[in-house]
Amino acid sequence: MSHEHHRHEHDKGFMAKVRWLLKIRSFWQSDTNRAVVDLVDPQPGELVLDIGAGMGPATMLAAGRGSSVVAVDPSGFMRSICGTRRLFQRARGRITVEPGTAERLPVAGGSIDALLTVNAVHHWVDLDLAFAELARVLAPGGRLVLMDEDFTHPEHPMHETHHGHEDEMTNVDVDAIAASLSGLGLEATGEKTVAAGVPVKLIRATRPA
Ligand SMILES: C[S@@+](CC[C@H](N)C(=O)[O-])C[C@H]1O[C@@H](n2cnc3c(N)ncnc32)[C@H](O)[C@@H]1O
Repeated sequence: MSHEHHRHEHDKGFMAKVRWLLKIRSFWQSDTNRAVVDLVDPQPGELVLDIGAGMGPATMLAAGRGSSVVAVDPSGFMRSICGTRRLFQRARGRITVEPGTAERLPVAGGSIDALLTVNAVHHWVDLDLAFAELARVLAPGGRLVLMDEDFTHPEHPMHETHHGHEDEMTNVDVDAIAASLSGLGLEATGEKTVAAGVPVKLIRATRPA
């Protein structure tokens, strides 16, 4: 089975659709996405990769700051919304929307100055493959920010909606992820912290120049 077609159980079924509808507003724009773009701090002329871009909240913000952005998502539905949204941006000439997964990224090795992913790591199916891809695509001196809202945290406002579904998602262990990235030659740190007022899991790394 190709990685484009991997799905977790929580992506299926009626309740999944209900949860999805409840979240749709935050798929368009969210404070978490804004916080990640602030951390990544995209600069004019840089090439940014948004993995699991969804409807493109981080992509639009990053492009608005003058960088070029490749938005990658395996879902044709998400890509069609992101691609339509792109047309309404002043920065549309700097945005491309591509099919792909974290496990197979559609960009050249060493080409990415800044890489970000918001609320997507828990969807990744093969973390080792994905981390190898992150290390492959980052340019020397490049940086990455992976942020997942910690829906398992009792203080997360959507904790109740997600409670009981943890075992259907890929576990996001910040220490293990930082260790894996360090093993691939990146300088990485992982922490559980608060961003935009919600508990998050945050991994930051740079590729030495
Ligand atoms: C919860 S949404 C987050 C979208 C966006 N980053 C945001 O913050 O609104 C998760 C996204 O990850 C995508 N996704 C699922 N599996 C993936 C994979 N293996 N690699 C990359 N993205 C994946 C989904 O299609 C979906 O658009």
